Amino acid sequence: MKFFLDTADLKEIEEAASWGALAGVTTNPTLYARIGGKLADFHAHIKRICDIVDGPVSAESVAMTRDEIIRDGRELASIAPNVVVKIPAMVEGLAACRALADEGIRVNMTLCFTVPQAILAARAGARYISPFVGRFDDISEDGIAQLSDVVTAINNYDFSESTVAGEQIEIIAASIRSANHVTQAALMGADIATVPFATLKKCIQHPLTDRGLEAFLKDWEKVQ
Ligand code: G3P
Repeated sequence: MKFFLDTADLKEIEEAASWGALAGVTTNPTLYARIGGKLADFHAHIKRICDIVDGPVSAESVAMTRDEIIRDGRELASIAPNVVVKIPAMVEGLAACRALADEGIRVNMTLCFTVPQAILAARAGARYISPFVGRFDDISEDGIAQLSDVVTAINNYDFSESTVAGEQIEIIAASIRSANHVTQAALMGADIATVPFATLKKCIQHPLTDRGLEAFLKDWEKVQ
């Protein structure tokens, strides 16, 4: 499993990238608004992220018609070679995904909740598919079980003839809220987990690690 950071915050991205285990970044309109981002600076901000991260950086189109999404997608893709255009799972999004994929532009289909949505995204040429986990949990449904169904269904087929350059589709476990979500996603074979900074930090922490380290340091004092 690869780790992506789910944020638009440059400090968080720089910090997580410095840990040596970051493979990409995903942003969305909410995350950009959260850091006080402005429309006029959006493309420049995505470029700043691309300069920090050596891996795919998802930038979302907020257009609602296929033609507008395609136009948006082309502009976003021209920012840097590692930009992935994030498009919501909807009819206009599917059509735009197909057109962009045919032009060699990689798409991450987001707001994906069901197996049929994921398979349609795959057939429309999406390079990444982002099933949301936490938002299912928010409505008292089992987000991990839903993710597992998507992983199984996508892995049942070979979609390489649909994607840019015949690349394999990767599933991004999104809307991740805990280290346990990451564990469950890894056990079922999700390719990527996109994780908020605070959750990523929790993924490297464990009380037994802290306790063990404390004991090691204490014992090391004895050999001084
Ligand atoms: O980037 C999409 C997804 O990860 C959003 O997560 O926590 O807003 O449901 P969340």
